[in-house]
Amino acid sequence: MTSFTAPKGTFDTLPPDSATFLAVRDALTAPLRRAGYGYIETPVFEDTALFARGVGESTDVVSKEMYTFTDRGGRSLTLRPELTAGLMRAFIEHKLYAGQLPVKLYAVGSNFRYERPQAGRYRHFTQVDMEALGVDDPALDAEVVALGVAGFAELGLTNYELQLTSLGDAGCRPQYREKLQEFLAGLDLDEETRRRAGLNPLRVLDDKRPEVAAQLTEAPLMVDHLCDDCQKHYDEVREHLRDLGITWTEAPRLVRGLDYYTKTTYEFVHNGLGAQSAIGGGGRYDGLSKELGGPDVSGIGYAVGVDRTLLAMRAEGLVGEPQAKVRAFVVPLGDEARRRGLQLLTELRNENVAADFAFGGKSLKGAMKAADRSGARYAVVLGERDLADGTAQLKDLTTAEQRAVPLTDLARTVKELLS
Ligand code: HAM
Repeated sequence: MTSFTAPKGTFDTLPPDSATFLAVRDALTAPLRRAGYGYIETPVFEDTALFARGVGESTDVVSKEMYTFTDRGGRSLTLRPELTAGLMRAFIEHKLYAGQLPVKLYAVGSNFRYERPQAGRYRHFTQVDMEALGVDDPALDAEVVALGVAGFAELGLTNYELQLTSLGDAGCRPQYREKLQEFLAGLDLDEETRRRAGLNPLRVLDDKRPEVAAQLTEAPLMVDHLCDDCQKHYDEVREHLRDLGITWTEAPRLVRGLDYYTKTTYEFVHNGLGAQSAIGGGGRYDGLSKELGGPDVSGIGYAVGVDRTLLAMRAEGLVGEPQAKVRAFVVPLGDEARRRGLQLLTELRNENVAADFAFGGKSLKGAMKAADRSGARYAVVLGERDLADGTAQLKDLTTAEQRAVPLTDLARTVKELLS
């Protein structure tokens, strides 16, 4: 019979690597908890229309990459390609806007995009996402960016850059868009690019093909066409970032893959990753709540790709040898010892000592080999004679020293030796 492999563009995270995955996830979320962000969990699938409206019909994410299906009740549902739209839906549905603002939320979870898989780009990936909803204050933008930076600092990552720009708002962007479209109309572009220029001209600025890029050097930029409000907002955000000692690169051509962004927009780009270099990205999205049928309130946030962050850490040599899973290993010799040994195992764990057991009725030799492989510091060897004496042999696997310890003291003794 044929066996199965994980679907294309997906992968399994196995022990011991999975321990690093969890550590990265926890490090990225620790600064959020310290800043008063509350954990939110939303469904992995949502109404398809939520993403079409929220993320934007003209984006690749919506037009080419969604995992959309009809359920048995005839509803069109989509596996979430990102977390912001679902969090905003929950914010509106549960009227969180009626309480204290900003509402600060964070989520960790799976996302799905039907992308062309390559290193760092998967069809199933994990994001740490955070959103601060309901307040339009440049200081909040600075807090959000600073929390992203704090997450990377927690991991010791340094070889990355914060790329920052402002995308204006509903007041100034339409005029800029027209200017850009006029400019693009005068260029020698292929049919597909012309179509894109009609739909979303800002995206053309991101075209990396040399023949297109060469024509774009003189293109008008949003940052030169901000209205007074947006300019002031952007200036203040940068002032706060300076105060916080955060450095960035101005990225006036930064194009995000999602349509909801306004004003402050940014990406964290790692220098050791090749093509898929964005380890995180986000920005303000002041029209999203209204677009999704909620009140006209603003929002800002970011998402960090956990899988890419792990790759970045590997690139910086920050992923060490995996830690041993257990510190003590119980080796019973004989049936009686097996029964008492299983109790000892529980006693060790109750003392908070990570411990394992020679399951599978191994010989002494096989069991000691398993103890060595487990990475444990101590083996607790329990033979018939020890049992009759009410003791066990405690063996230090690093020095091979061995001594008898009363069973009643064993768990505590191991705990003390390990502390
Ligand atoms: P995004 O830039 O699409 O933004 O994704 C954020 C991060 O998720 C990326 O920088 C990358 O690290 C990771 N990522 C995205 N796609 C993939 C993929 N196919 N494989 C592996 N990692 C990937 C958002 O999703 C927005 N919702 C962020 C946001 C929150 N904006 C405001 N609030």
